[in-house]
Order: sequence, then C-alpha cells, then structure tokens
Amino acid sequence: MPNFYDTDRAVAEYLLFHFAPPEVQMPWASGPREGVDFPVRCVTATFDTESVPSDPPGIRALDLGCAVGRSTFELSRLCDEVIGIDASERFIEAARRIQQAGELAYEATLEGDLLESLNARPPTGARPDRIRFEVGDALRLRPDLGTFDWVLAANLIDRVPDPAGLLASFEGLVRPGGQLVLTSPYTWLEDYTPRSAWLTKDGQHTTETLATHLRGFGFLRRLDLPFVLREHARKFQWSVAEATVWQRL
Ligand SMILES: C[S@@+](CC[C@H](N)C(=O)[O-])C[C@H]1O[C@@H](n2cnc3c(N)ncnc32)[C@H](O)[C@@H]1O
Repeated sequence: MPNFYDTDRAVAEYLLFHFAPPEVQMPWASGPREGVDFPVRCVTATFDTESVPSDPPGIRALDLGCAVGRSTFELSRLCDEVIGIDASERFIEAARRIQQAGELAYEATLEGDLLESLNARPPTGARPDRIRFEVGDALRLRPDLGTFDWVLAANLIDRVPDPAGLLASFEGLVRPGGQLVLTSPYTWLEDYTPRSAWLTKDGQHTTETLATHLRGFGFLRRLDLPFVLREHARKFQWSVAEATVWQRL
C-alpha cells in the first residue's frame, strides 16, 4: 500500500486544505471557520516578522514537511530564499506545478464519486522565483542544505518514526538567533511513530518534553492553531495544533 501522502486522495485533500478559498475549505456557517487557512497562519501568526531585514541577503527559510507548499509560498513573501522539502513525490510534483505553471487543476470530493473541479494557484504577493521544492527525508537531509534564519516544521513531528532525532537535527539547521516554529496536534499513531518514540514520556505532555530535546534553543512562546481538513463536502477533521516558537541560542 502506498504511503497515504502519495495517494490521489491525499493530493486532492491537501491541495484543497492549502489553496482553496476559505468558503470551500469550510462551506458551513455553523462549522469551525477559524480553522481555515492553517498553512498561512503557520507563517503569519508565529515568526517574529518584525525582525525581517529590508536589505539583502534577507531571510533564508526552510519549510520541512511542506506538503503541496502553501506555507512555502507564504514564506516567499517575506524571505529571499525558501526551500520546501517533503518526502512525498506526489506532493512535491504538485507544488512544483503550481510554482512553474502558475496553476494546477484538481478535483475535490463532494460526496461519493461526485467531484468538484478546482484550481490551485500561488497566493497573491508570493514570489515563486524565490522557492525551491525538493523531495527529501527530514530525518536524512542532504548535508549541503546549509543553515536557515527561519525553519518551519508544521504538523511533522508526529508523522516521523524518530521525532527525537528530528528535534535534535534542528540545532544544525537554524542559525544562532534564528527561529524555529513547530506545530502539531500531537496525534501520536503507531502507523507513523513507534510507541516507544512518542514524546509523551513519564506522564508529561509533548510540549513539556519538547524543551528537553531542544537544548540549543530558548522557548519564545506558544499558541493554539485550529485547523480544518475537508474530506468531502459533508465531512471534516477539526484539530487544534499547538505552535511553539523557539530561538536558536
Ligand atoms: C500532516 S502533513 C503536514 C503538511 C503541512 N506541513 C501542513 O501543515 O499542511 C505531514 C507531511 O509531512 C510529510 N512527511 C512525513 N514524513 C516525512 C519525512 N520523513 N520527511 C519529509 N517529509 C515527511 C508528509 O509527506 C506530509 O506532507
């Protein structure tokens, strides 16, 4: 069976999650409308954008586990260079198509085999020329990737087999003074992470154990980021990610 993130269903659901207008992401007035545009808020509600220099070389950013790339496009508004990396070839192929062709047609499920045709486009103000999308494993990044002013890992730590190893790698990726943003609903599942590697140790919540794995960072702040993932027009997953912001010492 292919990895879920390499399936047609995942590509369509994530294109909608990242690029559809808010009223398509959550068409119901009675639904949790504050959960739309999660990949936008992962950037705009977290990084300290006051610190963005106006002169080159500017900010170099990494979006690890970028999926189909919306947060990467958002980062490109603020940063001079952005690399988006994901393990899913299908996701990176879709992100590149949006970057290079300026649009990607896809079909979202309404119900059963009834589909709705939609188009994913780079958001207004994004700078596709500043972006590089790459297929890669967050736990085995290419050694010449360099270091970054900003690193975002949105909803990734509970989808890798070695979250502690991922957290340990950030020290080598973030420049001193740079910022690391982690978001996650902490949905620990043995499908992705062996139970022995979950970050809920000795009765502690994940937030508490994060600090013990991020020794080279100072904790800046935390916030809750709700998000809504549409499965079809009448079924949605509503989750609340916790975002934590860290500064490299
Ligand atoms: C829950 S999704 C989150 C995607 C996106 N950051 C967001 O917030 O919408 C997890 C993503 O991590 C990717 N992923 C899982 N394991 C990975 C790994 N070892 N290296 C890179 N990406 C990985 C998946 O392909 C998927 O795109």
